[in-house]
Amino acid sequence: MRCPPERLISTDVALAVERLRAGGLVAIPTETVYGLAADARSPAAVARIFEAKGRPRNHPLIVHLTAGAQPDDWVGGGWVGSVPDGALRLAAACWPGPLTMVLPRGPLVIDAVTGGRSSVGVRVPAHPVTRDLLARFGGALAAPSANRFGRVSPTTARHVVDDLGPHLDPATDLVLDGGPCEVGVESTIVDLTAVPPQVLRAGAITDDEIERLLAAPVAAASGPSRAAGMLASHYAPACRVLPAADLDEAARLLAESRAAGERSRVLDRTADLVVFAQRLYSDLRAADADGLDSIVVVAPPPSGLGHAIRDRLAKASA
Ligand code: TXA
Ligand code: MG
Repeated sequence: MRCPPERLISTDVALAVERLRAGGLVAIPTETVYGLAADARSPAAVARIFEAKGRPRNHPLIVHLTAGAQPDDWVGGGWVGSVPDGALRLAAACWPGPLTMVLPRGPLVIDAVTGGRSSVGVRVPAHPVTRDLLARFGGALAAPSANRFGRVSPTTARHVVDDLGPHLDPATDLVLDGGPCEVGVESTIVDLTAVPPQVLRAGAITDDEIERLLAAPVAAASGPSRAAGMLASHYAPACRVLPAADLDEAARLLAESRAAGERSRVLDRTADLVVFAQRLYSDLRAADADGLDSIVVVAPPPSGLGHAIRDRLAKASA
């Protein structure tokens, strides 16, 4: 079913709350990317998230909480009880913001959200519209990024409709428009159930920042794929993504692609990494919309936000 975008996109927060309470899906703006949210306590609503995304059921969802709320019911044994001190410091410093913590799950967490795991990912998003929504809704929202499984995350309401429109019902669901996302890449995920803590996904909050706040070293993710974001191929547009180390390599890759008869172009946003991250997914979507066969992307240096961008480029190109 194709429906015109204006039947799904709205800025009405009260309507979004109504839809969530009735078990509908609401795409929410966050500072990182748009999420596809449902009431985290409703197994039926959460099941619809997996259907709409075409996502395997064993890929756990992040639970989004209200700023300032004591998340005792959502993380194991009471927030101040069995939760490591480090988590409290990270929460105090980074929330609301682009950090997801994996912690032991609390009593309100349902199996549909975690795929039956004993841990849960939680985060407090910073976007003012979604903070308002969470405060009025009163509960918690389970939400993955609002894209079809394996594809590029959405950073505008329009991206959500382009991708998920046919899988949403304008009578029960909504895309809450909060403008373009400020960060542009998904949250940093740190697993505090591992010793030492593991960074499962790079994001705007860097490993160095987390180590400083924990006053302890963190490890790179290891072991069997713990987060879907760790799958080799993910965040991929339809066209091939060719990362280049510098402009010379970019020119060579472009020439090769064109010589092979491909429609291709170079993307270089290394002058400003904040803008690079903000626009990355729009740029990749634009490459598809323009019918390119490949896009050559000049990679940022491996420091700060550069780590997260390089990670997404590697996954988009795998
Ligand atoms: O910025 C973000 O994190 C966005 C916005 C909407 O909040 N959300 C997002 O969700 O990127 P998603 O589902 O696309 O990616 C979350 C990742 C998945 O790879 C999932 O496997 C992992 O987090 N994850 C969630 N809970 C987990 C858990 N308990 N243990 C390990 N990984 C977990
Ligand atoms: Mg995702």
